[in-house]
Amino acid sequence: MQDRLKEAIQYIQGETALKPEIGIILGSGLGGLVNEIKIKKSIPYNLIPSFPISTVEGHHGNLIFGFIAGKAVVIMQGRFHYYEGYSMQQVTFPVRIMKELGIHTLLISNAAGGMNPAFSVGDIMLITDHISLFPESPLRGPNEASFGTRFPDMSSVYCKSIIASAKEVALAMHLSLQEGVYAGVQGPCFETPAEYRYLRIIGADAVGMSTVPEAIVATHAGIKCFGVSVITDLGIEGQVQTISHAEVIKAANEAGSRLTQLFVGLMSHI
Ligand code: HPA
Repeated sequence: MQDRLKEAIQYIQGETALKPEIGIILGSGLGGLVNEIKIKKSIPYNLIPSFPISTVEGHHGNLIFGFIAGKAVVIMQGRFHYYEGYSMQQVTFPVRIMKELGIHTLLISNAAGGMNPAFSVGDIMLITDHISLFPESPLRGPNEASFGTRFPDMSSVYCKSIIASAKEVALAMHLSLQEGVYAGVQGPCFETPAEYRYLRIIGADAVGMSTVPEAIVATHAGIKCFGVSVITDLGIEGQVQTISHAEVIKAANEAGSRLTQLFVGLMSHI
């Protein structure tokens, strides 16, 4: 792992001297954020040694370096999902790279199904906590002590002060937000009605197939996390409807400009 990381970092640093402070993982719906970046360098994933390559329709694969509202950022345009067949180590490899590049904060977005009866399609939910239902941890295996401790604390994965700032920014923008717990599942199936009900009973407000591995690795490495879900479909008891990937992408894109504004507004608070 260390050798592969070193190789990737060396390549990236040969391409750009920019030292990012903030990392951003663009999930479905946040694609428009790319238009807000003063781009200094965009590196296709397939040119970076050891980097996985994204396989899902609607997801790009570039590591973008630049500035948003004056803040130096590194952005993953397209992420890796466990359901694509990558190992948890591969899914989280880019987070380790971002750590080595010097980020102190990671902003993550995703599309998610909503189980909370107060939610509607198109809502933006601030993630206050998560429940990992992935079959394994990205930290399974030998612990790399230079990254973090063997048994990392997970009592506050999602930074409370960034959540408070996001609420301020949203208020100023007249943007309404939801907040809640995100359950991370392996996918690729969407849930059965019984599974949505189960997820609601165990304390989740939304469910998706990403974010948790990245947030765990970031927290292990001492990086502050902030996450948002765009609610693209509902798994509310009695109201579960059929759902397709195309519908998820459509709903996520419709929320895109609000989400982009929120992220841009947040930059000066981080
Ligand atoms: N379940 C799991 N993942 C998802 C969903 C869902 O309903 N919507 C978007 N991603």
